[in-house]
Amino acid sequence: MLGDIQEVLFSEKQLADIVERVGEQISEDYQGKKLLLASVLKGSVVFMADLMRAIKIPCEVDFMSVSSYGNGTKTSGIVKITKDLDINLEGYDLLVVEDILDSGVTLNYILHMMQARNPNSIRLCTLFDKPERRTVPVKADYVGAEVPDAFIVGYGLDYAQKYRNLPFVGVLKPEVYGG
Ligand code: PRP
Ligand code: MN
Ligand code: MG
Repeated sequence: MLGDIQEVLFSEKQLADIVERVGEQISEDYQGKKLLLASVLKGSVVFMADLMRAIKIPCEVDFMSVSSYGNGTKTSGIVKITKDLDINLEGYDLLVVEDILDSGVTLNYILHMMQARNPNSIRLCTLFDKPERRTVPVKADYVGAEVPDAFIVGYGLDYAQKYRNLPFVGVLKPEVYGG
């Protein structure tokens, strides 16, 4: 598994520092609000688990499962919801938690879907942002770090469902996905 990684982009320590900073900012901004963190699985599983513990104010959590990449390195353009949120969003200050904002197709779809459910407010938090690749205009309110246009894995991010368990984030060797 480690042999498939070309370069480490974010070490465990760097990721922890990013999560700490984002968690502090959210804790400040959402004081007195009815914060609901909505994690978009599977990619955001590790970020979500760390981020919720870096948030120092009361909040609730919920999960949805969304997939558009399948086993490829490019979005299929079709967003499939395989598990929806459980909580009725009315009255909540919803913060959607993603691992990466790439083409924007996934978050754009989720945002429209969530807006129709009348939460008090909606914002987006993404660990990584790849602005170069955007095909749909979506902007995140909280960004951990901008990343270059390389296929990255680890800390929840996969290629063909693998590498999610790497504790760091690295660039996958192109020969692994035939790039
Ligand atoms: C990945 C990633 C984001 C989305 C970003 O999910 O976790 O959810 O794609 O790409 P986009 O901005 O181009 O839509 P994926 O479909 O691979 O499902 P997964 O989270 O289960 O890996
Ligand atoms: Mn995802
Ligand atoms: Mg994926």
